[in-house]
Amino acid sequence: MTKKTNIKGVILAGGLGTRLYPLTKITNKHLLPVYDKPMILYGIETLRRSGICDIMIVCGREHAGHFMNFLGSGKEYGVKLAFAIQDKNNAGISDALLAAEDFAEGGGVAVILGDNIFENDFAAAVKKFKQGAMIFLKEVPDPERFGVPVFDKSGKIILSVEEKPETPRSNFAQTGFYLFDGNVFEIIKKQKPSKRGEIEITDTVNRYLKKSLLAFAFIKGWWLDAGTFDSLLKAAAVIKEAHGKK
Ligand code: G1P
Repeated sequence: MTKKTNIKGVILAGGLGTRLYPLTKITNKHLLPVYDKPMILYGIETLRRSGICDIMIVCGREHAGHFMNFLGSGKEYGVKLAFAIQDKNNAGISDALLAAEDFAEGGGVAVILGDNIFENDFAAAVKKFKQGAMIFLKEVPDPERFGVPVFDKSGKIILSVEEKPETPRSNFAQTGFYLFDGNVFEIIKKQKPSKRGEIEITDTVNRYLKKSLLAFAFIKGWWLDAGTFDSLLKAAAVIKEAHGKK
C-alpha cells in the first residue's frame, strides 16, 4: 500500500462546464460519466494512489449537493472528504484553491483539476516534495489549449509558463496536477486577475518560478482532460481500452 503523506489533496471541480452544455444543465461536469464512472472518481483515485487520503472538493454552488449525495464521506472510496464552495464560478482556478486555505492548515497541497484524468499516480513526487511548487508536463499535439512552458536553450530550465499562447514556444502542456507548499495561499492573495478576468493557476506557478522555487517533471503514461464533447468521448474510449488490458 502507498504510504500516507501530510500533504492534503484538493480537487477543483468548479466552473459551469459551458463547453459541455446541455449535459451540464443537469449536473456538474465532474459528475458526468467517463466510461464506467463519474469523472470526479478519477481524481479521487489519482490522489489516493499518490498516498493522499485527506481530500477537499471545491465546487460551485450549482449542483453542489449532487457531489455530497454521490460521494458521501468518501469512505467507500478509501478517502476522507471535505467540501467547499467557490461562490463565483468564473474567478479562476487559483481563486478556487483559496477555498481550501483553512483545510490545508499551513501545509502543502496536491491540486488536481477535476476534469484531468491520469494513467499514473504521483506517489514518488509527493513523497519527495518539501517546498516550493512542482508542475508536471506532457508533450501534446495542441499546446495552444494549455499552459505551455518556455525552456532555455539547454531544455532543462523553464523560463516561464505561458497560458494558452497563440504561438506556443514548446510542445509541452502543463497538466492539471500541481504540488504547492503552504505559501501558495499568500501568493494567490497577491495575484491580480488576468486579461480574461481570472486568478490564473499559471500566474501562481510563475510566481514560484521567479523565486526559483519551481520544480518540474515529465509524466509518463497517458493524460486526458475531459472538458469538451470530443475529449470526453476520447477519455471514455481510452479508459475502456485500459480496462481491457488489465
Ligand atoms: C487549465 C490551466 C492550464 C492547464 C490546463 C490543464 O486550463 O489554466 O494551464 O494546462 O488546465 O488541463 P483550462 O482547461 O481550465 O482552460
